Formats: sequence, structure tokens, C-alpha cells
Amino acid sequence: MRRRTGGEREDVDLRIDILTLFPEMFSGPFAGGMIRKATEAGICDLRVHDLRDWAHTAHRVVDDEVFGGGPGMVLKPEPIVAACEALVAKGTGRLVYLTPQGVPLDQTLAGRLALECGLVLLCGRYEGVDERALQILRPLEISIGDYVLTGGELPAMVLVDAVVRLLPGVLAAGAAAEDSFATGLLEGPQYTRPRVFRGLEVPEVLLSGDHARIAAWRRYEALRRTWRRRPELLRSAPLSAEDRRMLRAVMAEEPPAGRTQP
Ligand code: ADE
Repeated sequence: MRRRTGGEREDVDLRIDILTLFPEMFSGPFAGGMIRKATEAGICDLRVHDLRDWAHTAHRVVDDEVFGGGPGMVLKPEPIVAACEALVAKGTGRLVYLTPQGVPLDQTLAGRLALECGLVLLCGRYEGVDERALQILRPLEISIGDYVLTGGELPAMVLVDAVVRLLPGVLAAGAAAEDSFATGLLEGPQYTRPRVFRGLEVPEVLLSGDHARIAAWRRYEALRRTWRRRPELLRSAPLSAEDRRMLRAVMAEEPPAGRTQP
């Protein structure tokens, strides 16, 4: 249990309020797996809100034409500002706006968001949100990648998944520490039973029971995979003297292939 800055106590680690024009999109993805487990265990409290509930017209209109002309519609500032102010005040939450123009979501940012007591996720739609709403609310703008989706709902689900799995008690102790990116490297290969599948054998070292050898093998394979697939990550990864020795061996073994996909 964490104490909010206002002194109010909360029974959950993280409250997440999602503001969207399509609340029904969230029922499937949040109904199973790790998110459901975290919700049922009281680790996080997820609430989805319909932006139209803050519309102030009889027809619950929340969008309008673009000033200056152009295709598509823009989300009006009044309902967004009213909704975000109400939700942020309730949860002392950090306001996040999902947009392709935001800072890229990565493992470090997911880890930082997992330390917050509350998040309010604003999902954009159409041509985006009236700029004045953003000027007033000053949200943290986050993108999940350099491509454009039809709205912020799928990015919000991605963010929730990336953040909630990092909350204490959601994964087995220590599991997240071994993730790709958590160590600054890609994770190496994993195997399970059977020992031989279609003639392919599990590497002998993994069956040896020698924990030091297994750890060294895993580190070597992580370095090798990172060198082959994402060599640029090695520039910022924290590497020990032993890592550097292994990396020289990896590099001698194979030149960088660069990205294997077009
Ligand atoms: N909305 C539309 N595309 C997006 C993206 N790539 N990231 C975050 N929000 C978005």
C-alpha cells in the first residue's frame, strides 16, 4: 500500500483511469490474464470512462470540424479538460495522452510509470485533441511507436500491460528483472521439455545443473542476440569487464547482421 501525496491512503498500488470514446474496446483485453489477476488481487484498480459523459450538449457531441479546413474531426477541448481535471483530482494521477507525437514508450518509462500512485490515460481519436486542452492540462505525451493507429485505445492497452506487469506481486519475484530491455540487452533463447524436438536438442549446459555456467551461457547468448539484432543497444547497456570480454568473443564469431527484416 502506498501513501498518496495528499496523505489519503489507497488500498491498491496503482489506480488507472482511462478516458475514451470507445469504452467497450477495453472489456476483452482486461478480462483475462495478468491484468485480471492484478485487478482481482487488489494490486491495481482499472476504470474506463466514456468521454461523452463530460459532453455538455444534449447529443453528447465531443468532436468538431478542423479550424482552417481539412479532413477529419478534432476532439473539443471542453469535455476533455473537464474530464481530465475531474479524474486527476480524484486519483492524484499522472495525466498521460497517447499520441504518435509523444515520447517513445520504452521499458525505462514503463518502470517510472509503475512507481506512480495513479495514471489517467487520455485516448485520442480522429485528427487529435484541440491544442488548447493540451496547453491547459500539460499531459505527458507518449507514443508506442512510429506508426499511426486509429486512436489511443490500443496504445493505452499496451501501456497498461507494460506497466501493470511491473507492479510488485504481479509476476513471480525477479521475473521482470530478466526481461529483454530490463538489463539493457535482449533476452537470449529459452527452452522447455522435450529435450529433443524434431532432432533439435536443448543446449547441454542448461541440463547441467551448474548455475554459474548456466548464468554465463545466458549472458553470452543475450549479448550475442543483442549484437545480431539490435547492436545500437550495446552503446548504452551497462557492461562489466566480463561482459566486454564475452562481447569481443561474440563479435569475433560473427559480424553484425543489422536488422534481419526489411
Ligand atoms: N495514437 C495513434 N497512433 C498512436 C501511436 N503510435 N502511439 C500512441 N498513440 C497513438
